[in-house]
Amino acid sequence: MSARAVVTAGTGGIGLETAMGLAARGFTVTVVGRNAERGAIAVDRIAEVATGGPTRFVAADLASLDAVRGLAAHLAAEGPLKVLVNNVGAMFAERQRTVDGIEASFAVNHLSPYLLTELLLDRLRAGGPSRIVNVSSGAIKVAKRTFDAVEPPGGYYGFHWYGRAKLANLAYTLDLAERLRDTGVTVFAADPGGAATDMTNGTMTSPKIVSPGLRLMWPLVRRAFERSTAGPAFLAARSSIVAATDPALDGRTGLLIGPEALPVPAFRGSTDPRIVADVLRLSRRSAPLHGHADAQPG
Ligand SMILES: NC(=O)c1ccc[n+]([C@@H]2O[C@H](COP(=O)([O-])OP(=O)(O)OC[C@H]3O[C@@H](n4cnc5c(N)ncnc54)[C@H](OP(=O)(O)O)[C@@H]3O)[C@@H](O)[C@H]2O)c1
Repeated sequence: MSARAVVTAGTGGIGLETAMGLAARGFTVTVVGRNAERGAIAVDRIAEVATGGPTRFVAADLASLDAVRGLAAHLAAEGPLKVLVNNVGAMFAERQRTVDGIEASFAVNHLSPYLLTELLLDRLRAGGPSRIVNVSSGAIKVAKRTFDAVEPPGGYYGFHWYGRAKLANLAYTLDLAERLRDTGVTVFAADPGGAATDMTNGTMTSPKIVSPGLRLMWPLVRRAFERSTAGPAFLAARSSIVAATDPALDGRTGLLIGPEALPVPAFRGSTDPRIVADVLRLSRRSAPLHGHADAQPG
């Protein structure tokens, strides 16, 4: 059987294109999503280009930490893993909490990929040399860089809170790369740039997603959003595919692969030791590897 790869949120948007890219390169791909019907359609599309083993769909709502734990157990039981692409991400126009009582942007964009990665590390070590790819975002540039609690002080602005969760995940990713140095598991972040997907089509149209300062310039901001998210998902998937497979990255780790599918400097704050320490503390507290989250919304 060919090497196994898992792509979360791999049944639509950038994740589906990433899964197709990996399958075309000979990986046996498992895609994760919530909706079984969408999963079946995605499996058929991926199978058309696959050159490795049979494509599979596994259902899990990655907004639930228990569902992440269940998914990890399921995937771990299937044996060694060569590639894990944590592609799941979401922006919420209105403040929402998950079933665990955790603010949804932080849960979906950071805690869920953090938890899945930690729970699959043994399987990734067993599959080594192997790679972890965490999907990032340029929204990090507007993130509030404070991680004392899941929710930052001040009002809820979906785009900024999304960026802050992505900053947490990038800080975790770059730290993990160091932690796993010389273990055979290398770790990358991938910034897709932008693409027209369900996420961007559904959430980038309301001035409510940005802070009051940016709202004053909403027509300009909206045009910038429209321009940056106009491209096709297959182009946005290049950074993840390169991060997961490019032989030129063999032996390298801890890199952010940019929208042009080349290494770029990491976003500000992501290597700040204070931010890294706060993110790690918050992640361990909010998403324990076994058992239940503290469900401390604050
Ligand atoms: N699009 C952009 O311009 C852009 C820019 C920068 C970064 N990104 C990042 O790129 C990644 C992919 O974004 P995208 O635009 O392709 O998103 P998308 O279109 O919303 O992704 C759709 C996929 O996400 C799955 N999904 C959504 N919520 C889920 C959940 N709670 N549990 C399991 N699966 C879930 C969907 O499955 P179901 O249909 O079953 O729900 C589907 O497979 C994200 O990490 C995003 O933050 C995107």
